[in-house]
Amino acid sequence: MFSKRGSHISLYVVLYGLTSCVSSNPVDRNLAYRSPFTDKPHLGYDTRYIHARHAKRQLELEIEDAGGFVDEHYPTWYGADFSNSPFVYDGGINFTHGVASGDPFDTSVLLWTRAAPDGTQLPDQSVPVCVSYGIWDNPELSGKPVNMGEAFTSYDVDFTLKVEATGLEPDSKYWYQFADCTNPKTISVVGATRTLASPDTPAEKVNGGKPLTFAVFSCSNFPFGFFNAYTFAALNTTSDIFVHLGDYIYEYANDVYGNGTSIGRILSDRELATISDYRTRMALYRTDTGLLTAHQNHPWITVWDDHEVADNTWKAGSADSNDTSLGCQYSPSETCFTDRKLNAVRVYHEWMPIRQVVADDKLRIWRNFEIGQLMDLTMLDTRQYDRDLTDDYWNTDFVNTVSSFPNRSIMGFEQENWFLGTLKNSSERKATWRVVGQQIVFSQLNETGVFDLDAWDGYRANRLRVLDFLYNNSIGNTVILSGDSHANWVSDLAIPNDTTTYNSSTGEGAIGVEFAGTAVSSPSPFGQFIAPGPADDISTEIVNLNPDLQWSEASYRGFFTLEVAVSNVTATFYAMRNLNTSNTDGFASAKFIVHSGQNRLARPVAGGSVLAGALRNGTHA
Ligand SMILES: *[C@@H]1O[C@H](CO)[C@@H](O)[C@H](O)[C@H]1NC(C)=O
Ligand SMILES: *[C@@H]1O[C@H](CO)[C@@H](O)[C@H](O)[C@H]1NC(C)=O
Ligand SMILES: *[C@@H]1O[C@H](CO)[C@@H](O)[C@H](O)[C@H]1NC(C)=O
Ligand SMILES: *[C@@H]1O[C@H](CO)[C@@H](O)[C@H](O)[C@H]1NC(C)=O
Ligand SMILES: *[C@@H]1O[C@H](CO)[C@@H](O)[C@H](O)[C@H]1NC(C)=O
Ligand SMILES: *[C@@H]1O[C@H](CO)[C@@H](O)[C@H](O)[C@H]1NC(C)=O
Ligand SMILES: *[C@@H]1O[C@H](CO)[C@@H](O)[C@H](O)[C@H]1NC(C)=O
Ligand SMILES: *[C@@H]1O[C@H](CO)[C@@H](O)[C@H](O)[C@H]1NC(C)=O
Ligand SMILES: *[C@@H]1O[C@H](CO)[C@@H](O)[C@H](O)[C@H]1NC(C)=O
Ligand SMILES: *[C@@H]1O[C@H](CO)[C@@H](O)[C@H](O)[C@H]1NC(C)=O
Ligand SMILES: *[C@@H]1O[C@H](CO)[C@@H](O)[C@H](O)[C@H]1NC(C)=O
Ligand SMILES: *[C@@H]1O[C@H](CO)[C@@H](O)[C@H](O)[C@H]1NC(C)=O
Repeated sequence: MFSKRGSHISLYVVLYGLTSCVSSNPVDRNLAYRSPFTDKPHLGYDTRYIHARHAKRQLELEIEDAGGFVDEHYPTWYGADFSNSPFVYDGGINFTHGVASGDPFDTSVLLWTRAAPDGTQLPDQSVPVCVSYGIWDNPELSGKPVNMGEAFTSYDVDFTLKVEATGLEPDSKYWYQFADCTNPKTISVVGATRTLASPDTPAEKVNGGKPLTFAVFSCSNFPFGFFNAYTFAALNTTSDIFVHLGDYIYEYANDVYGNGTSIGRILSDRELATISDYRTRMALYRTDTGLLTAHQNHPWITVWDDHEVADNTWKAGSADSNDTSLGCQYSPSETCFTDRKLNAVRVYHEWMPIRQVVADDKLRIWRNFEIGQLMDLTMLDTRQYDRDLTDDYWNTDFVNTVSSFPNRSIMGFEQENWFLGTLKNSSERKATWRVVGQQIVFSQLNETGVFDLDAWDGYRANRLRVLDFLYNNSIGNTVILSGDSHANWVSDLAIPNDTTTYNSSTGEGAIGVEFAGTAVSSPSPFGQFIAPGPADDISTEIVNLNPDLQWSEASYRGFFTLEVAVSNVTATFYAMRNLNTSNTDGFASAKFIVHSGQNRLARPVAGGSVLAGALRNGTHA
C-alpha cells in the first residue's frame, strides 16, 4: 500500500483511515479491547488511541531506519504475515492461563487466551503482542483451519485476547489453538469447544438427538478449597456446556473469608477495588487445574453474581462500599463503589469468554441463547444491572419492611420487560423448554423463621410478577437455575404460601421447577465443614416448613448437571468429598426428572431415594 518512500503523513492517513473499519484490523479484532466503557476514558480502551500509539512507534522505527520503513506487514492489517515484523513484540510470549471458549452461537464462538510477554523485558506500551489463532473440525488440527486470523493484545487489556471464530457449522465440535505470530512454534494448549444448534433446528435433531447436557456451577472460592467440581464435571460427566451462575471469584483479602494457608491457596492481603486488584485475583483463580481443564475442554456461558464486584451488591452499593463519603472511606483503596464496580466489570470482560451484548450498554450481560426448537437458555443479571437496595446487614430490618413493595425491582424495568418478553417469545416459537440461568434462590425459603432478603425473598412482588406471567400466559416447561446460597434446594415452582392451587405431594398446580445448586467450594450456610448428619437435620426441618421445597442438602460442595431432552429434563446433583487436594472424589447424590408438560418434579421425587440431604416423603439410602 505504501512504498519505502511513503511519507509520514500518508502513514497516519492510512492508519487513521483504517480505525473506522472495526473488524478489519488486529486491535479491534481482539474483543477484549471493545468491552466495555469506550466512552469513559479512565476505564475504557480507546482503540483509536492504541492505533495511533502503534502508528507512532512505526514512525519512530522508520526514522531510526536510515533506509526507510520497510515493514510490508502492518499496513495490510488482519491477514498479514507478522512472523518477521519489527513492528510487533518478538521477545517470546507465554500462554500463562491456558485457553477458554464461550458464548457459542450456531456459527460462531468466542476463543480466549492470555499472551504474556516472556522473560524479564516487558515491551513498552506501544508494542503490540501479536497472536494468531486457528479453529479446526478435528482434534489433531489436521487440514486447513475452518477459521483463522491474527489479533493484537497489549498491557491495556492485561494481555488477554478474545476473538470470535466465525463461519462454523451449527451444533458441531471444534478444536482450536493460539500461536505467537512472530514465532509460530510457541503455541497454546489445544482447546475443545462447540457451536449450538440453529434456532429453527427441530427439537429432536438438536445435538444429534442426544440430550444436551449443561454442567451448572456457582460460588467458587479459592481459599476454601480446590475446584474439584470443575475437574469432576470435565472428566467424569459428559457435559456439553458449562454454565456459571456467578461468584466465580471472591473479592476478600486473605483470611477475611476463608483461610487457605494450609492448602497453599493464599490471597493478596487487601480487598479488591482497583483494576489491578481484580486482574490479579482473576489470574490467581485461573491457576486452579480443575478450572483450567474445564475452560480448555468446554464452552462456558457465564453471568456474574455479587462477589465478582463485592459482597451483596445492588445497583448503587454493596455491604461495605457505596458512593457516600462513608461508603468510600470504607473501601480499602478509597475507591467509591461505582468506580470499583466498573473496574470489576472491565476485568470480567477481559478475562471471561463472554460477549458484550450491546455496544452502548456497558453493564448488560443478560442475554438469550435459542438452542434449536429444544430450548431457550435465558441468562439474567439479578445483581449488578439495576437491582434495588438489598440486605447489606446494616439495613436488614428496613429491607424486611419493604420486601413486598411492588415498586422494588431485582432486574430493573428494562431487563424485566425483556425477560418476560423472552419467555413469551420462546413459548410462541414453540421451543420445548425455557431454562433460566440466574444468580439467587427464586422460591420462597423459610429457614426457620429467617428469609434471605438478598435472594428473591427480598423482592416478593417482583417474584410474583414473574410467576403470574407464567401462569397467566400458560407458559410451561420452565426450569430456573440458581446459585449464590452454597446449598442445594430443589423445588416445584408455585406461588408462595399457595396451598389451594398447588399440591405439595403430587406437585399438581406448579408451573415449573427450580434447581438451586450448592457451591463449588464456598462453605455451607449451616456452618463450614458441617457433617452430613447435622446438616440433614436442619434440611429436614426446612423441607417441613416449605411446601414447594422437595429436597435440601447443604453438607457437600459440588455442582449439578442438567440433561435436556425433548421429553424430559434430568438434573443430577454431584457431591465432592474432599477439597483439600485436587481430586475427583465425588458421587451423584440425587437425581430429578421433569417430564415435558408436567411443570413439576416427577413423582416419586428423586425416585423416592437420595444419597445425601433431606427428601420430602423419601428415604436417604
Ligand atoms: C509461563 O507461565 C506459567 C504460568 O504463569 C509459568 O509457570 C511458566 O514458568 C512460564 N514460562 C516461562 C518460560 O516463563
Ligand atoms: C474421573 O475421571 C478420571 C479420568 O478419567 C479418572 O481417573 C477418575 O477415576 C474418575 N473419577 C471418578 C470418581 O469416576
Ligand atoms: C490461617 O491459617 C494459618 C495456618 O493454617 C494460621 O497460622 C493463621 O493464623 C490463620 N489465620 C487466621 C486469620 O486465622
Ligand atoms: C454506605 O455504606 C456505609 C458503610 O457500610 C453505611 O454505613 C451507610 O449507611 C451506607 N449508605 C448508603 C446510603 O448506602
Ligand atoms: C414504593 O412503594 C411504597 C409502598 O407502596 C411507597 O411507600 C414508596 O414511597 C414507594 N417508593 C418509591 C421510590 O416510589
Ligand atoms: C419478541 O419477538 C418480537 C417479534 O419478533 C420482537 O420484536 C421482540 O423484540 C422480541 N422480544 C424480546 C424480548 O426478544
Ligand atoms: C417460618 O417458619 C417459622 C418456624 O420456624 C414459623 O413460625 C413461621 O410462621 C414461618 N413463616 C411462614 C411465612 O411460613
Ligand atoms: C395476571 O393475571 C391477573 C388476573 O387477571 C392480573 O391481575 C395480573 O396483572 C396478571 N399479571 C401478569 C404479570 O400478567
Ligand atoms: C407468603 O408469606 C410471607 C411471609 O408471611 C409473606 O411475606 C408473603 O407476602 C406471602 N406471599 C404471598 C405471595 O402471599
Ligand atoms: C394432594 O393430592 C393428594 C393425592 O391426590 C391428596 O390426597 C391430597 O389431599 C391433596 N392435598 C391437598 C392439600 O389438596
Ligand atoms: C410417598 O412416597 C411413597 C413411596 O414413593 C409413595 O407411594 C406415596 O404415594 C408418597 N406419598 C405422598 C403423599 O406423596
Ligand atoms: C428422558 O428422555 C430420554 C430421551 O428421550 C429417554 O431416553 C429417557 O428414557 C427419558 N427418561 C425418563 C425417565 O422418562
